[in-house]
Order: sequence, then structure tokens, then C-alpha cells
Amino acid sequence: MKLSLVFLAIVGLALAAAQVLEPTRQVKYADKSFLEKQKFLLEIVYRIENPLLFEEYIKYAHDFHFDKADYTQYDHPMELFERAHKAGYLLSRGEFFGAMVKSHIYQAWGLFNYFYYAKDFDTFMRVASWARMHVSEGMFVYALHLAVIHRDDFEGPMLPTINEILPHHFFNSKLIIEAKKFDYDMWNKLAMLNKEYSGYLDANDNSKMSTKDWKPWQWWKLLGLSTQWFKMETYPLRKDVTFMSMLKDTHMFYMPTDYTRNIEYYNEHTKLSYFTEDVELNAYWYYANIDYAYFLNSTKYGFAQERRGEYWAYNLQTMLARYQWERLSQELGETPEYSGKDTYEQGYNPHLIGYNGINFGYRQNDFDYKRYSNFGQFSIFVSYYRRVTMELEQGHVTTNNGTLIDLRQPEAIEVMANLLEGNADLFDSRFDTFSRVFSHTYFANADIDAQHLAPHIFVNFETMLRDPFTYSYYKRFYQVISKFSSYLKPYTREELLLPGVKIDTVEISELATYFDLTDFDVSTLLSDKMIFVDGQFVWDKSLMARQQRLNHQPFTFDYTIESDKPQKVVIRAFLGPKFDQSRRTLSLAENRENFIEIDEFIYQLDAGKNTIQRNSQQLYWTIGERATYTELYKSVMMAIEGKQQFALNATQPHSGFPNRLLLPQGWEKGFPMQFFFFVAPYTGTHEHFPSYDYTSYTSGIGSGKRYIDEMPLGYPFDRPIEEEVFFVPNMLMKDVKVYHREGLEKFLNLQ
Ligand SMILES: *[C@@H]1O[C@H](CO)[C@@H](O)[C@H](O)[C@H]1NC(C)=O
Ligand SMILES: *[C@@H]1O[C@H](CO)[C@@H](O)[C@H](O)[C@H]1NC(C)=O
Ligand SMILES: *[C@@H]1O[C@H](CO)[C@@H](O)[C@H](O)[C@H]1NC(C)=O
Repeated sequence: MKLSLVFLAIVGLALAAAQVLEPTRQVKYADKSFLEKQKFLLEIVYRIENPLLFEEYIKYAHDFHFDKADYTQYDHPMELFERAHKAGYLLSRGEFFGAMVKSHIYQAWGLFNYFYYAKDFDTFMRVASWARMHVSEGMFVYALHLAVIHRDDFEGPMLPTINEILPHHFFNSKLIIEAKKFDYDMWNKLAMLNKEYSGYLDANDNSKMSTKDWKPWQWWKLLGLSTQWFKMETYPLRKDVTFMSMLKDTHMFYMPTDYTRNIEYYNEHTKLSYFTEDVELNAYWYYANIDYAYFLNSTKYGFAQERRGEYWAYNLQTMLARYQWERLSQELGETPEYSGKDTYEQGYNPHLIGYNGINFGYRQNDFDYKRYSNFGQFSIFVSYYRRVTMELEQGHVTTNNGTLIDLRQPEAIEVMANLLEGNADLFDSRFDTFSRVFSHTYFANADIDAQHLAPHIFVNFETMLRDPFTYSYYKRFYQVISKFSSYLKPYTREELLLPGVKIDTVEISELATYFDLTDFDVSTLLSDKMIFVDGQFVWDKSLMARQQRLNHQPFTFDYTIESDKPQKVVIRAFLGPKFDQSRRTLSLAENRENFIEIDEFIYQLDAGKNTIQRNSQQLYWTIGERATYTELYKSVMMAIEGKQQFALNATQPHSGFPNRLLLPQGWEKGFPMQFFFFVAPYTGTHEHFPSYDYTSYTSGIGSGKRYIDEMPLGYPFDRPIEEEVFFVPNMLMKDVKVYHREGLEKFLNLQ
């Protein structure tokens, strides 16, 4: 078997060159207090839809009382939360939670504040255990994530990934239900019977698989497997020694699963489900939106220096650009923009089932919103949107103390983006803060003030990217940002030129994508008996959802840069498409918003010729694989038992784009794209980048040092381009092709 899984979290990557200025990586090991926190986090979210079964935590929950003295601050959202609890209005267990639902978010905010202001870790554990038992599963998970990202004493410990905590929001209902039904004793019994009747039970199934119905992605059928739970030993994907020895006493099972394309072909967009339903893409969007959650005031929660508005706008642009690459590569053309009219052509059925057992809502093709939603409410947002665009066209906005903010200045991006996102940093209460966010409820068929909602993908960040409508709707918001940037003055030649520096060449090795198989940990769905020995939970079984995902071969960039003197610079690399939907080559001026900055690093140039190598795993925009829930739990327990140390550099930042999805699927004959490289002087103020521990789960949020320098995000593509002056010797454009390698033979060769 040639399948190899690149497990980057474990593989340490050598630095390309000593001159890349990054902090020295000293391995630190977890101490007792770290391990205690880490163990708590892993256990409190385990089997979230089942009642809490850890007796220690039940005791904490039992001892919990609302007492102002336990918190460093006691504010209004906390008061409201306590009142709602006393009156019996809290969103309780079994209720679907939406992070963009008005009545839900005020409660989640209160709960988060209890977590955030808890005076010590003991208090935190008490209130968290109580919440685990009493509030909606979704709300608990959301508030807990926020707390782990924002509380100072959580620098380091991490939660399992969101898809491991709430697999319901990531995998088809078939997988979820099969996992809920899984019973180890029954499985053993069947295996025994099957053996006795020499494979009769399995064979019976396989004989029904007719080759004519096979789809290219149904690798399990090619292998003669149906969708059921298989013992991992029969087809392991990972065979590294540490992994195997850590899990030798664990019964591991996997089940093949796929995207909605495997269930029904709803419309041509279904073709993209391998991308829009990619587990890590959706997890990425969850994390991208949780750091600076829209209802948090950046001054109050300590991230005022971090350009939250600009970061939001930038994420919006990259998300739309990345989606557009995939559409072009599948020849689906440009992302249609939602016109605000009543109907939307492409329906979507997510085939998801909520943790409360209720199916997610779906939308037919040519769905008429006016007929099915309370469209009148949508007008609140429409008038808000109109007002924002009007202010943009006028070129200024007036705050309520009479200050005029000039929207033709590049710095105004922060105000512009805050206005458009509708976040808590809006200076002006005249505006309907959050109205954009709450517009999601209209499209989720719910009333704006409703508390009880049927599950819908459009009110949570981790599910919204599945639906084509999201991109069309968000494209509309992006038009405003785009217009804002179109009013800015282009950079002049003097601003862009770095005298004495020239990029001679950048050699890029072959860019090739393929589909690989991955096991996603869904052990949390187990619902059989939990075994405790001396009060200690024994993790003896794991379930994995085995899914095909887009990946690419590692590649390298070899830069040759000349400099007339030693100097510190920032090197940026961008990737973008070459053509539009009609295969017309686009000018850089037309195309700049389809580019994504994939790499950025500080480098100390020598006088003369410099050669620098970067590889695709080092890129600043992306993160590699994370350790699975099972592994994390096992390594923490081994560290607690003193069998091995828990290295703190084993964690991955929670935010970052999945490295696997760096390239669009591409074409067998090569999908044309282009790189853009840019060397600029280093103007930042921090000594090192990143100055926080770069493997830290919290990625430096709240440190004020998230970015490499003070340049706008996406610089120099953040302003219109005048091609006559734009191209300077310290830039380089390079055409490339992305090849797609068919993965099928690999599976055929297995047998
Ligand atoms: C952690 O540090 C050790 C020692 O430098 C190294 O061997 C290991 O690969 C590192 N792990 C990661 C994930 O960087
Ligand atoms: C008015 O509000 C703006 C934005 O919040 C602030 O920067 C400015 O200092 C305020 N000016 C006065 C005179 O209070
Ligand atoms: C954010 O919080 C700060 C400090 O508590 C406060 O001064 C400011 O008015 C708040 N901003 C908004 C928009 O409410």
C-alpha cells in the first residue's frame, strides 16, 4: 500500500535557512497544572450529547452556586444569564444552538463571561461543569471555545477540534447514526458468526454492489467494502511506531463516508461538495470567526490592537477567492452574487442531523425565500446595508459625537469593516449593530426573536460554508469592501520600489493535487458503556470516519534575490488564478482580489546573491494536521501517569487555513495559475515574528502581535493597481500549472 499520511504535527520541519528570523524553538514540557487543565478540557466535551458521566465533574457542578464574589467582574450579560436561568429561560440541553441567533447569543455571551471572569481555575471548572449539565450542548461548546481562546490561564491547553467535538455538524447523518448504533459486543458477535460461516455475512453484502453504479469517489466499493465499521488493523492508514504503540490497547474502527455527492446530486454545485463540505475547511471558518466574535468589544476583552475589522474583511476576501479558484477549476464559472431577490437557484440539502436528533433544514432548487421566510425582517438589514453603501459613496461617516471619519483613507478599512460586519466595536448606536449577523436567521427560516429553532446550517459558522448560497450572499458584502478599496489611491512606484533589491528567479517545483484518505476521529459519538477504573476513564475504543479529501504533494520555492546591501526584508508570496470563467487572461488590476497571500516571512538579506528555500509546509497562511482526540487524550493520560512527557510544541494553532487545501483540484493537463512574489523593507516593531509561541493553540490572540508588520493585510493588493507603475524589480510574477493526479489506480492496486 502506498498510501502515506503526512502527519505534520509530529514531523518536525527543519528551518529552510538559519536566516529566517523565527524564535528558537525550545521544547517545553507540560507541568502538572497544565495537564490538569488539558485533561479537564478533553473530558468535559467528551460525548457531548450524553449526560455528564465523570463523577468528579458532577460533584463540581453540584457545588456550583451563582455568587458574584467568584468573578473578577460581574456585568450585565452575566446578570441576564442568571435571570434567565432563574426564570427557566435558558437554552437547555437538547436545544439547537445558533451562534448567529439573537436570543442564543446573548445567553452564550453571559455564559462566556462566567467562564472568562471566573477568578481561578477551580471556579472555572465548577461553572463549566454546571453548564455542561444544564445548557444547550452547542451553546456550551461555543462559550467554552471562546473562554479557552481568551482566558490568560489557557495559554497552551487546547480543545479537540470542533469536528471531533460536534461531528454532527460535519458528517452525513448516515455516519452519525451508524456511530450511535455501534455496539462493540454486537460487532464481535457478528464478526464471530461471519467467521463461522466463512464470510457469508460480508459476502452477501458485496455481491449486491453492481459495478455500473460506482462513482469515481466510491473507493470503498472498489475495495469491495460496504459502509460499515471495520477493524482498523484490516486497513490502517497510519503506521508510525509512536502512534501504534500508544494505541495498542485501543479497539479502533473505521467506516467509509463521503460527501453529499454520494447521497444525491442536487444540482451542478454538488460537484463541489468535496470542497464545500471538507471537514477542515468548515472547521477553519469556525475558528476564523471565533477569535474576535462579533459581540465582543475589543477594548473590553483585550484585543483592541489586532485590527479585528480588517481581519474580518480580509478573511472574507480570502474565503471567496479560494472558493472561486475551486469553481474555476471545476469550470463552474464565477460565483453568482445573491441579488436580494426572492429566489435562489441552487438548492442545498446538507443531510446533517443535529445532536438533538433533528434533521437540518434544506432548501429546494429555485427556492423562494419570500414564501418561506419572514422576509419582512430582512428589510431591517437591507436598509442598514443601503445606508452603509451610501456613506461609503459620500466618502465619510459621522460618529455620534460629530467626528467625521474620512472613508477615502486606507486606515478607514477598520471602520468600514466594522460597519459591514456589524460588530461590537461600532462606535455608533444609531446603527443596528449585529443586523447583518442576524439576517442569517431569516435565511434559516426562523423568526428573529425565536428561541427554539430547527437545526439549520446558516446560523453557525462551522456549517455555513457547505451551502452555495453563503458564498453568493457574502459576495454581496464583499462588494462593499471592494468598492472601498477601489476608491483608494494606487501605490506609487516610490512606495513599492525597494532600491537595490531584485528578485532574479523563483523556481517552483511541480504542483500536483490528489485525493487521499483520512481518518477523522468521531469517537465522541460512541454511546455504549463508559468504563472507569479507580475513577479514571478508560478510553478503550475509537471510531474513525474515513473520508477522501483533497490534498497536494509538498512543493518548494527556491528564491534567488539580489541585494546591494545587507538588510531586513519581508518576503510575501501570493497565488491566484490566471483566467476568468471564459478563459480570458485577466490583468492584475482586474484579478488582484482573486489572489491570496499564502506566505509571508522576515528575512535578513546579505549583500549580493541570496538563495532561499521555502517549502509548502512552512507557509504562514496554513496549518498542518492536528493530533486526533484519541491521541491527545492518550498522551495526556500517559503524561499524568508519568510514562512520558507531554511536549508543548506538539500543538497546532487553532486558526489557519488547512494546508491540504492550498491548491484547487486543478486539471489533469494543468490548471493555469500564477504566483506573485514581493520583497518589501521590514518596517515592523516587534523583534521577532511571531513573538508569541508560534505553536500556541491561541495563536497570539490578545497579544497585540498577531501580524508580521503594520502593513495592511493583503498588501500590496489592498489597493487598485496601475500596471504601468506597479511592476518593480523587487516583484516577480510567475505562471504555473496545477496538475491533478487521479487516485483510483492506487486503490485498484491494493488488492
Ligand atoms: C518539538 O521539538 C522537538 C525538539 O526540538 C522536535 O524533535 C519535535 O519535532 C518538535 N515537534 C514539533 C511538532 O515541532
Ligand atoms: C468621538 O468619537 C471618536 C470615535 O469613537 C473618537 O475617536 C473621538 O476621540 C471622539 N471625539 C470626541 C471629541 O469625543
Ligand atoms: C468598549 O468598551 C470600552 C471599555 O469598557 C468602552 O469605553 C467603549 O465605549 C466600548 N465600546 C462600545 C462601542 O461599546
